[in-house]
Amino acid sequence: MENSSNTLLVKVAAVVVISITAALVMHVQDPSDTVLGVGYPELWRRTGLAGAPARAATCILAGVLLLTLGWLYRLLFAPLELLRSPDEVGYIAEDGRTRAQAANDVRRRRKTGELPPVYPNGWYRVLDSHMLERGDVKNVTVLGEQVAVFRGLEGKAYVVDAYCPHLGANLAVGGRVVGDCIECPFHGWQFRGEDGKCIRIPYAEKVPEFAKVRCWPSCEINGQILVWFHCDGDEPGWRVPEQREITQGVWVYRGRTEHFINAHIEEIPENAADIAHLAHLHTPGIVSGVDLRYTNSKTWEFVRHDWKVEWKPETEPNKHCSQMLVKHALTVFGRRWPLLDLDVVARQVGPGIVFLLFDHSFLGHGVIMHCVTPVEPLLQCVSHTIFYQSSIPPLVPKFILRAECIQFERDVMIWNNKKYISKPMLVKEDSAIQKHRRWFSQFYSENSPRLRYQHDTMDF
Ligand code: FES
Ligand SMILES: [Fe+2]
Repeated sequence: MENSSNTLLVKVAAVVVISITAALVMHVQDPSDTVLGVGYPELWRRTGLAGAPARAATCILAGVLLLTLGWLYRLLFAPLELLRSPDEVGYIAEDGRTRAQAANDVRRRRKTGELPPVYPNGWYRVLDSHMLERGDVKNVTVLGEQVAVFRGLEGKAYVVDAYCPHLGANLAVGGRVVGDCIECPFHGWQFRGEDGKCIRIPYAEKVPEFAKVRCWPSCEINGQILVWFHCDGDEPGWRVPEQREITQGVWVYRGRTEHFINAHIEEIPENAADIAHLAHLHTPGIVSGVDLRYTNSKTWEFVRHDWKVEWKPETEPNKHCSQMLVKHALTVFGRRWPLLDLDVVARQVGPGIVFLLFDHSFLGHGVIMHCVTPVEPLLQCVSHTIFYQSSIPPLVPKFILRAECIQFERDVMIWNNKKYISKPMLVKEDSAIQKHRRWFSQFYSENSPRLRYQHDTMDF
């Protein structure tokens, strides 16, 4: 809140300063006028800009220069933020239909297949830390539930059910943070973030013991706020590891992307074990874009990415983790550019979080946190947040994030339109996919929520 009003103030001040300057420049008609006695018309005379048209041209030029400088500043220094709407990527809108119509048609008509349970047990990202200032409250949908995420005035973040148990108002819509509590906008009941207990009912003599809102186990680490989900309400069985370089400020925030994907959650991590798709989907150079109808176009054939990949699960006590080791090489006109060879370790921690660790002798070190959070059974919010060595110019991590985003959006086009196949037709070389499915099944338990199977007949 504070941040956005500050930015607005800066913008208003800039517009006022620019307008006053332009008005002064334009209104000095007589070259012998002096403004504040500093010989300003003399300057116009000497530069040959005494006439109003010349001054107007100078103003326009100065404006363009300012805009260019602003754009350059953003390009070079500001974080990259690419937030895609749910229908923006991966759908083909033909025959005069809009993208939104195409996306809706796909969602309605697509066969889902025999799906595994839809909400695996594990930790999920709800927000990046910088998106929640002290005293802020946000309404987020996770695992089909509405939650209120708020930051107490002392700085700790809490996640509680959004609906007030009193009469059902949404605590995150108009609710107010009071100390480490959230106050309902409807009748002012106050709930403690720590345990959800109601500690004040403004009009009641006594707060009953049962007055409580459900509180989600949460933690804040690596610049992200995470919640724990277990279908039986079990306590967290493992922790999300700390990435020291982030918490110590050696790696800093350089941007994030956000996508909404129309698929079962397991499709997304399974990509890591699907070695064969890399050569097919991700080999065309990023210059050829994300639309799979055109990525193989001859125009861009001279740039290729080469991938060597291995996927393996980790052992106890980290059996909830797995690793994908990636060796990437770039060839241009058949020539390899060893300087751009990149080794990446993608360490998946549970069903919803992956650390993509970059280690490059000259491009530096950093991590992309790739997080998948189910919003609905078949809608996943995927975010990529990059933290990178602060000594490396921001343009480098921004480029890496952009490149990753292009490759990722190719997968999105597949996921958004595919069916989940429970018994896939695999060849020997696809064996890691089955291993991945076995590994991933540890995140489901007997009571894990399932989607009721779709009705396949057409009844009008
Ligand atoms: S609905 Fe929340 S206090 Fe009444
Ligand atoms: Fe992929």
